Amino acid sequence: MDMPSGSLNNPVGFDGTYSGQTTTIVIFGASGDLTRRKLIPSLCSLFCKGRLGPEVQVVGMARNNITTEEYRESLTEGMDDFPDFSPEQGEWNEFLSRIHYRCGDVSSADDMKGFEETLKGIEAPGKPANRLYYLALPPSLYGPTVLNLGAAGMVREPEAWRRVVIEKPFGADLASAQALNKSIHSVFTEDQVFRIDHYLGKETVQNILVLRFANTIFEPVWNRNYIDNIQITVAETVDLADRAGYYDQAGVFRDMFQNHILQLLTVVAMEPPSNFQADLLRNEKVKVLNAIRRVTPESASEIAVAAQYDGYLEEPGVPGDSRTPTYAAMRMDIDNWRWQGVPFYLRSGKALDDKSTEIVIQFRRPPHLMFPQEIGPNILAIQVQPDEGLHIEFQAKTPDEKMDLRPVDLEFHYDDSFGGQDIPDAYERLLLDAINGDASLFTRSDEIEEAWEIMDPIIQGLGMPEAPPVAGYNKGSEGPEEADRFLAKYGHRWLNRNWQH
Ligand code: BG6
Repeated sequence: MDMPSGSLNNPVGFDGTYSGQTTTIVIFGASGDLTRRKLIPSLCSLFCKGRLGPEVQVVGMARNNITTEEYRESLTEGMDDFPDFSPEQGEWNEFLSRIHYRCGDVSSADDMKGFEETLKGIEAPGKPANRLYYLALPPSLYGPTVLNLGAAGMVREPEAWRRVVIEKPFGADLASAQALNKSIHSVFTEDQVFRIDHYLGKETVQNILVLRFANTIFEPVWNRNYIDNIQITVAETVDLADRAGYYDQAGVFRDMFQNHILQLLTVVAMEPPSNFQADLLRNEKVKVLNAIRRVTPESASEIAVAAQYDGYLEEPGVPGDSRTPTYAAMRMDIDNWRWQGVPFYLRSGKALDDKSTEIVIQFRRPPHLMFPQEIGPNILAIQVQPDEGLHIEFQAKTPDEKMDLRPVDLEFHYDDSFGGQDIPDAYERLLLDAINGDASLFTRSDEIEEAWEIMDPIIQGLGMPEAPPVAGYNKGSEGPEEADRFLAKYGHRWLNRNWQH
């Protein structure tokens, strides 16, 4: 990625070493689940690796009326809920000593002004600190928080940078995303804004770029001449959990397709940028989104099916007549030279039998077969999670048999090749990138808007009274039969492989 080492804008060099600047990481929504589950563990890990610098401060704000000491205690107690997060006691204590807490309401201009004074008090006098504002808040508070940051003079950059990280969901449709972009741009310039999609921070997703653009063997076949279809699956075992308030409004299209799955698709389908500068990379992704064939609400049900797991309506907080889909499968077509005629099949669902994210590329069959046996196509499967890796399935002759062909698997597993080295959480990578000012793995405003333009008619169309009824599926199953029938209609079937070893 484009990361000049140790310049004014980049306190941390490309190699992760600290270059002397001080950064304050401000978390709005400091008492929320995201902060405890993702932000604090990721920041702690970065701190322990020496990537945040010795003078970093983390300042949280939320409405709970507690002191810094009580906040620190709550973080320590909360660690029991996350057994994977277990820093050494000494390092944790050292990190905790950098954490501060102030009670306040982000939607109050006065509270924000008071908070600015708090921050100035925490930052060393005479030594300007950079600031990363992280909005770990309900989406309805993104706009008011940004406007209050502007009004309190907290966005100016006379001596040190100011950046804002915004969580998903970014809007609920095109109109609300445009309105939010407008509010944000009235305060921040686009290069100060980091819209996070944690899928882009996953090692395996970044590795798709390396696979495609740092190797010569894949790119020549990465097109309509050799590829028959591409399948992207994001299957989850978790159900609604306690997220009815958010999820029943969002549904699977807004929760998974508009962001994560479309991001995976762009990374698979984009043209190679001339270098890894954030804007060049994002320009290519926008071109892919722009080339995705649009549908009207009336024709949405021709390219998508939606389903809801049995028992969803009985979940606490879900209205008894909700039609919100928890599963969907759809086809997308990309109208450009590389992908014309290659369907992209996408599916995602909750409460399924397996947690697995994979991208399966099915190649065309040989144009003529001199063997009497029917054989399957070559397959390249990118296992995004878990058991991160890659598989190539090809035909081989069974030894000591006449001409008996069998598919065999060439495998790469992160675990094997990188000696069990931990794969950092996506948030760790993305937080560091934001601190470095590298926006390559963040979503630009036009990207977000294109993605909504694609999804809006589908969501609207499937929600219309005349749309086919939402199908059902059993919890713990592979999903609805309708998804299989949907693919069969195009002459394809889902390639369910158990790639994990
Ligand atoms: C989140 C969605 O963005 O991604 C969740 O809101 C989903 O509903 C989660 O469970 C999946 O992320 P991961 O990293 O567990 O695949």
